[in-house]
Amino acid sequence: MTRREFILRVARQGGAVAGALTALGHLPSPPKRTPTVRRGDGQGQHVVILGAGLAGMAAAYELRKGGYRCTVLEARDRPGGRCWTVRGGSTATEHGGPAQTAHFDPGLYMNAGPARIPQHHETTVEYCRAFNIKLDVFNNDNESAYYYLEGEGDLANQRLRARAVETDLRGYTAELLAKAIDQNQLDAPLSEADAERLIDYLRREGGLSPDLFYRGSTRRGYTTPPGAGLQKGKMAAPYDLAALIRCGFGDEYSDAYAFNQQPTMFEPVGGMDRLAYAFADRLSEVITYGARVEGIHKTPGGARITYRDANEQPQAIEGDYCICTLPLPVLAELPTDFSPRMQAAIEAIDYASTGKIGLQFSRRFWEEDDHIFGGVTRTNMDITQIWYPCHDYLSAKGVLVGYYNFGETAELMADRSLDGRRERALAQGQKIHPQYTECFETDFSVAWHKLPFSRGGWAQYTEETRTKYYPRLVEPDGPIYLAGDHTSYLTGWMAGAFESAHRAVDAIQTRVVSAN
Ligand code: ALA
Repeated sequence: MTRREFILRVARQGGAVAGALTALGHLPSPPKRTPTVRRGDGQGQHVVILGAGLAGMAAAYELRKGGYRCTVLEARDRPGGRCWTVRGGSTATEHGGPAQTAHFDPGLYMNAGPARIPQHHETTVEYCRAFNIKLDVFNNDNESAYYYLEGEGDLANQRLRARAVETDLRGYTAELLAKAIDQNQLDAPLSEADAERLIDYLRREGGLSPDLFYRGSTRRGYTTPPGAGLQKGKMAAPYDLAALIRCGFGDEYSDAYAFNQQPTMFEPVGGMDRLAYAFADRLSEVITYGARVEGIHKTPGGARITYRDANEQPQAIEGDYCICTLPLPVLAELPTDFSPRMQAAIEAIDYASTGKIGLQFSRRFWEEDDHIFGGVTRTNMDITQIWYPCHDYLSAKGVLVGYYNFGETAELMADRSLDGRRERALAQGQKIHPQYTECFETDFSVAWHKLPFSRGGWAQYTEETRTKYYPRLVEPDGPIYLAGDHTSYLTGWMAGAFESAHRAVDAIQTRVVSAN
């Protein structure tokens, strides 16, 4: 088919000619998702941005393209907010806790906050492209990782490879369904031919035998793997369905089906903070570090922000507009003159309790002994998840995320002393990896809900708070616009921060242009 014929055929069949032209390289790709600021539109306008996390920095970065003057106030002495990579020398002091310093070896690190990027989070990927940040694949789902469930039952208290558990559960489920269809016991409106097709699909999906039984599959791995000569490979028998179900595997099952966690995922080479520093390097003259906001008030011409600088001196600054990216629990406690509805909304939103611990080991036993390269082990113990590093494979040492937990489990863990957290992480983790005892070197733990300028992992909306309060949060209060992932439907994702920043920038830009 010639190009001309192809385009005509697309048009005739109701297809988008533009799409066909783009595919053939005749039209440029659609515009990237960035705000619509035009050079010069922001002349004479000053925007004060609260927070040099990703939302605040993306807002400043985009506004400056239009000539806006920006001032970014950041309480911490570093950019990025939750986009934070802990390396040797990193420090943190949680609310009521002692100062903690990381002692990881040079080159080793833990992404304490965001650690994975979905491939379809365009804004995040686009900034990585723009700033020339190299991406590695992040193995969110590794069939070699383990499930380990403490409790009762034949499969409890032992580590089971994810590939075996998942293959068996899929196989048995497919068998049950295929047989029900085969015996006309499924109350579904299917023609005979469609029923046959569905059975055929289930046979392949579940790895079933021609007579529709699941009897195990090489997909779940081998007791002896295939090799040279006469080593054909010995298949392991499947686990018993009832034993799998009784262990509660449904609860711990991987999130890999979730839209935001499907492969392929990415992580920046060298740590997630490469993204934060890429912005910060471009904004060095407009970010003031160590600036703790103490008040936000409207003025006749804009907004006035009071803050304490790094030398504890009181300061004030005025802007025509303010973009406030402070997490809502932090904002709720500041003196402000938000409208009563805005203030009520700010106070109403819950934030997630969540924590991680980085454990440095003297050797990568998970790679050397267990053949696990990246991915997540899941357990019903307090540690909840163990993350294996997806970078620097085969190198000598490594940092594991020894727990990543949520809600009450994270709160109980966070309430332990730093020593207590480490002991718990090691005691539970070594049930899965006995090598912990021999190889452990040093750790660093983070409880996000206890960190002063974060006060939580991410906003946790319910259906009720989304309906009742969220619409108010995404409207400006006079000259003040909220941004941050809490003003998006991508809470807990960097893309939420970026898209919310673009939204605030667009709104200010529209207002400025229409006033001119
Ligand atoms: N987006 C966060 C994660 O990846 C919540 O775990």
